[in-house]
Amino acid sequence: MVHGLFLLAIFILASTKLVMGQPSLTCQTKCGNVSIEYPFGISTGCYYAGDPSFNITCDPSNKLIFGGNEVINISPSGELRVLNTRSYVCYDRRGNETGRINRWSSLGNLTFSDKNRFIAVGCNTYAFLNTDGVGNYSTGCMSTCTSPRETNGSCTGGGCCQTSLPRGSHYFMVSPYSFSNHTSVYSFNPCSYAFLVEDGKYNFSSSEDLMNLRNIESFPVVLDWAIGQDSCEYVGSENICRGNSICSNSVRGTGYICKCKEGFDGNPYLSDENGCQDINECTTGRHNCSGSSTCENTVGHFLCNCPSGYNLNATNNSCMRKGRPEYYGWTQIFLGTTENEAQEKHRAPKTLLRAKRWRHVEAATLRSRDIKC
Ligand SMILES: *[C@@H]1O[C@H](CO)[C@@H](O)[C@H](O)[C@H]1NC(C)=O
Ligand SMILES: *[C@@H]1O[C@H](CO)[C@@H](O)[C@H](O)[C@H]1NC(C)=O
Ligand SMILES: *[C@@H]1O[C@H](CO)[C@@H](O)[C@H](O)[C@H]1NC(C)=O
Ligand SMILES: *[C@@H]1O[C@H](CO)[C@@H](O)[C@H](O)[C@H]1NC(C)=O
Ligand SMILES: *[C@@H]1O[C@H](CO)[C@@H](O)[C@H](O)[C@H]1NC(C)=O
Ligand SMILES: *[C@@H]1O[C@H](CO)[C@@H](O)[C@H](O)[C@H]1NC(C)=O
Ligand SMILES: *[C@@H]1O[C@H](CO)[C@@H](O)[C@H](O)[C@H]1NC(C)=O
Ligand SMILES: *[C@@H]1O[C@H](CO)[C@@H](O)[C@H](O)[C@H]1NC(C)=O
Ligand SMILES: *[C@@H]1O[C@H](CO)[C@@H](O)[C@H](O)[C@H]1NC(C)=O
Ligand SMILES: *[C@@H]1O[C@H](CO)[C@@H](O)[C@H](O)[C@H]1NC(C)=O
Ligand SMILES: *[C@@H]1O[C@H](CO)[C@@H](O)[C@H](O)[C@H]1NC(C)=O
Repeated sequence: MVHGLFLLAIFILASTKLVMGQPSLTCQTKCGNVSIEYPFGISTGCYYAGDPSFNITCDPSNKLIFGGNEVINISPSGELRVLNTRSYVCYDRRGNETGRINRWSSLGNLTFSDKNRFIAVGCNTYAFLNTDGVGNYSTGCMSTCTSPRETNGSCTGGGCCQTSLPRGSHYFMVSPYSFSNHTSVYSFNPCSYAFLVEDGKYNFSSSEDLMNLRNIESFPVVLDWAIGQDSCEYVGSENICRGNSICSNSVRGTGYICKCKEGFDGNPYLSDENGCQDINECTTGRHNCSGSSTCENTVGHFLCNCPSGYNLNATNNSCMRKGRPEYYGWTQIFLGTTENEAQEKHRAPKTLLRAKRWRHVEAATLRSRDIKC
């Protein structure tokens, strides 16, 4: 009776937890061509309820929106890529300001990745980035020049400056300025631009970008997300990582993310068929069985099998005929004592274990040979 109650209690606990941490079956999984990956979701019951930052929207034009920015990718590894609009200030030939936009974004519990760069483009330009978050820092850069200089895509002075950024901020504002209203450079550079961009996703072209930034309105920016504010050690078994996944502390220092175990792929926050599933290494070309060895998929791993009369050489995962002269002979005798001789197929559990065993075998073989000689 006591036992029965105990079981019932466990069952109730387990089932409520499951419902709490999982999106409902009717949740929309795509917005335009972007997949909406849990813990993100676009309606109640579809995003992780523990943090309203995961409540995002799919607007009428089928764009996924987070914090006013279009989402281009949600990665289960704890990154969200958004398109962030440039900031600018423009002048006419007399030096009157004709337009200015200073962009800002509030990121909820998401934070700025250190993969982003802050870039300013212009020949009469300085720009600031103001943030809230770790340290509430401000940074910026300046660039002046008297004519467009040839560049090879790199942003290293002569119309373009950049600075790298620490991770951790959850608010930012980008403000470009001009030293003297662009009057001296108006003919080839009427505006100052400033924006954030993922490192490597912007190549500066002085001939085109000083004129109008090639009319590029927005640039990809990487944000970090995590579950809660606490570490895996702190939350223990209360984490929301589902089957075949592990908890991993977020790189940004607060919260954790879930990762599929090695050999599994999928969304580690889900317990259904979209959760971490075994990767079939044999059919997806991820195995490294070579020569005449054949691949066999197992849960989380793969095996390299050899035909009867052959042994697997773990150095290159290929099959070698048993009972070759000398050295191989010794090895085989030793193997016979550690593995089931009756079993004709010699199987190698995934690599490392097997490789260790072979090293051991080789050492032992050499030792015993030394003694014999
Ligand atoms: C998604 O759609 C946008 C335009 O709506 C397009 O630029 C982009 O290449 C598409 N991405 C994929 C992966 O199809
Ligand atoms: C989720 O976001 C939408 C749109 O921003 C908002 O209308 C809704 O109230 C939010 N839901 C919750 C539970 O905060
Ligand atoms: C532009 O600048 C000139 C000279 O500085 C000034 O007289 C004029 O009023 C300005 N025009 C506008 C629209 O601000
Ligand atoms: C533009 O800057 C120049 C140099 O600083 C200044 O003489 C001029 O008055 C400015 N023009 C306007 C419209 O502010
Ligand atoms: C951040 O997450 C906490 C829970 O970890 C939540 O209570 C809070 O509302 C979130 N803040 C925002 C701005 O979404
Ligand atoms: C950063 O600024 C915000 C207000 O903008 C303030 O609430 C917060 O305490 C500041 N953080 C630090 C570390 O100074
Ligand atoms: C461009 O030039 C800079 C210096 O002139 C150099 O450091 C950089 O490697 C070059 N990049 C490419 C892609 O050629
Ligand atoms: C920038 O230039 C590099 C090297 O030429 C190229 O591989 C890369 O695709 C370019 N990136 C963009 C966003 O144009
Ligand atoms: C693996 O190593 C064995 C022993 O040196 C050799 O006979 C065989 O050709 C190698 N196989 C492959 C696929 O490289
Ligand atoms: C396994 O193959 C490697 C070459 O790929 C070879 O150097 C090594 O001696 C072989 N091991 C055994 C035990 O035959
Ligand atoms: C085969 O691939 C695994 C990773 O899946 C690796 O650890 C192992 O060293 C590789 N073995 C060989 C012989 O290349």
